[in-house]
Amino acid sequence: MSKSESRRALVLASSAGIGYACATALASEGLSVCLNGRDADRLEDAERKLLGRHPHAQLSSCVADLNLDADRQHLLSQAGDIDVLVLNMGGPAATTEALSLDDWQSAFETVFLPMADILDQVLPGMMRRGWGRVVMISSVAVKQPIPNLLVSGVFRTGLANLVSARAAQAAPSGVTINSILPGRILTARQSNALERDARRAGVSREAYERTVSAAIPMGRLGLPEEIAHVCAFLCSEGASYLTGQHLLVDGGAYKGMF
Ligand SMILES: NC(=O)c1ccc[n+]([C@@H]2O[C@H](COP(=O)([O-])OP(=O)(O)OC[C@H]3O[C@@H](n4cnc5c(N)ncnc54)[C@H](OP(=O)(O)O)[C@@H]3O)[C@@H](O)[C@H]2O)c1
Repeated sequence: MSKSESRRALVLASSAGIGYACATALASEGLSVCLNGRDADRLEDAERKLLGRHPHAQLSSCVADLNLDADRQHLLSQAGDIDVLVLNMGGPAATTEALSLDDWQSAFETVFLPMADILDQVLPGMMRRGWGRVVMISSVAVKQPIPNLLVSGVFRTGLANLVSARAAQAAPSGVTINSILPGRILTARQSNALERDARRAGVSREAYERTVSAAIPMGRLGLPEEIAHVCAFLCSEGASYLTGQHLLVDGGAYKGMF
C-alpha cells in the first residue's frame, strides 16, 4: 500500500463544484475521501459520479450543514482521524455595499466561524500523529476586494491570517496548511453569478462571459479541475516544505506580482 492509499481525506462542501473536483483529484491519488454537502440526494449523485470515473475510489459521505454547530460536530465524529482536510464552503451570497449589523454578524457566522472551528478541531490530531495537510479554498477577494462580495474578502482575509498563524504552529509536527485563492472558476455558483451580472448589464450570458474572459490573460475562466490539481499537489507528500502560503490560481487575472 502506498502512503497516499493509507491517507484519509475530508473534503468539505464537495457534492459539486470546486469541492467535488478536489475530492475527485484526491480519490484518484488513492486517498480515501469523505464527501460532504447539505443534501443527501446530491451527495449520493456525487458519490455515484465519482465512482463512475474512479471505480476503485474509497468513498464515504456525510450530510452536514457546515453553518450548524451540531452538524459540524456530527461530521467530525463521522470522519474520524483525518490526514488531509480541504476546508471549502458554499460561499456567501452577493450583497450590496451597504451592510447591516445583521449582515456582518451572519457573514462572520457563515464564512469565518465554520472554517476556523473545523481547522482548530482537526489540527491537534494531525499534529499528534505527526503528519497532515490542510488546504483552504478561499478567494482572490483576499488580495483584491470584490465590491459585491465584500464579506467574502473581509472574513477570508481573517481566515488567511489564521492559516498562516496555524501553519507556523503546526510546521514542527509535519503538518502543512495553505490556501488556494481561485479566480473565476466555471462552477454552478459562477454560472449563476455570470447570468445575474449579464442580466444587470443587459447583455447575453455569452457576451458577458466573453468580456470577463478578455480581462483574464488566459482568455478564459478556469475549470474546477484546475483548482483540484493544485489542491492535490498541496496535499501530496512532495509538498512537504510548502506551508502558510496563499496561492492565486486565476489565469493571471490579478495584476500584482506578490
Ligand atoms: N467558482 C468560483 O469562481 C469561485 C471563485 C473564488 C472562490 N470560490 C469559492 O469556492 C467555494 C466553492 O465554490 P463553488 O463555485 O465550487 O460552489 P458550488 O458549485 O456552488 O458548490 C458548492 C458546494 O458546497 C456545498 N454547500 C453549500 N453550502 C453548504 C453548507 N452550508 N454546508 C455544506 N455544504 C455546503 C454545495 O452542496 P449543497 O448545496 O448540496 O449543500 C456544493 O457541493 C465557495 O466558497 C466560493 O465562494 C469560488
